[in-house]
Amino acid sequence: MTSVRHFLDLHQVSKEDLRTMIDDGLAVKSARAGRPKGTKDDDMSLQGHTLAAIFEFPSTRTRVSFDMAMRQMGCDTMILNSNDMQLGRGESVADTARVLSRFVDAIMLRTDDHNKLLELSKNASIPVINGLTNDSHPCQLMADIMTFEEKKGSIKNKIIAWSGDGNNMVSSYIHAAGQFDFELRIACPKELAPDPRAMEWAKNTGANVHVTEDASEAAAGADCLVTDTWVSMGDDAGDRHNLLSPFQIDEKLMEKTASDAIFMHCLPAHRDEEATAAVMDGAQSVIFDEAENRLHAQKAVLRWCLGNGQ
Ligand code: CP
Ligand code: NVA
Repeated sequence: MTSVRHFLDLHQVSKEDLRTMIDDGLAVKSARAGRPKGTKDDDMSLQGHTLAAIFEFPSTRTRVSFDMAMRQMGCDTMILNSNDMQLGRGESVADTARVLSRFVDAIMLRTDDHNKLLELSKNASIPVINGLTNDSHPCQLMADIMTFEEKKGSIKNKIIAWSGDGNNMVSSYIHAAGQFDFELRIACPKELAPDPRAMEWAKNTGANVHVTEDASEAAAGADCLVTDTWVSMGDDAGDRHNLLSPFQIDEKLMEKTASDAIFMHCLPAHRDEEATAAVMDGAQSVIFDEAENRLHAQKAVLRWCLGNGQ
């Protein structure tokens, strides 16, 4: 029996499979270059599959890119708001997993508590995909790696600098640094430091990850500067704006990076908070290519999850 391929976190998928997915994402993107968005891909090997995409938090990119990815591959998506499901009034995650496994071919979940994702995957007999939890956002990282490599070639041994909140995106960047062999420098206030579990994983695996409270130190000579919102879904704003203002990415900080460095942000963005409008909309920003690449990267993730034994 073929084991089910869940896409839960980057450190739980082999380096080889992650590399294959990035290359597949780049290939499927170039294969449909210039085609109208409504047309189907040439490779329709997944035709007939249905994804249940469950949202417990809002989403624009994840929702639309998963749905369009499935449509272009000749497949279908059910977008499910958990409040409209029995899940929203107490049915267990485990029973939801068992029932959906009888109807659809894969489940994507966006939720607050990562344990719900784990519980879903333990009880599903079909692939489960992490569409963001409070702990991590691996699908976004697949799009980020793709975007970096499109602009600057192999990410191996390159320097990526993060300046901002040590949030769920940072945990996935830490996993990515180990799995794709790049140097990651994280600048953040000590009060908003990265998840110790991700840092422990980095230490145990020898991933090249450094944390500093000095944004200029992190940015010096970097090939990419990246950030995210200061207030993630489920966070209280609290004192975050004060704590994070020294980590704002502005043109002065961009000047510290390599002259051909790029700026990335998973979006949604708050101009003149985590990064100035001049940076977000400047010549080095690749944020909308990055957003588009959610579509192509997710096709690769879906093809990996569904491609074998289904
Ligand atoms: N980057 C991202 O996941 O965006 P959404 O919240 O719009 O899905
Ligand atoms: N860190 C952000 C990412 C949004 C895509 C959040 O969790 O809200």
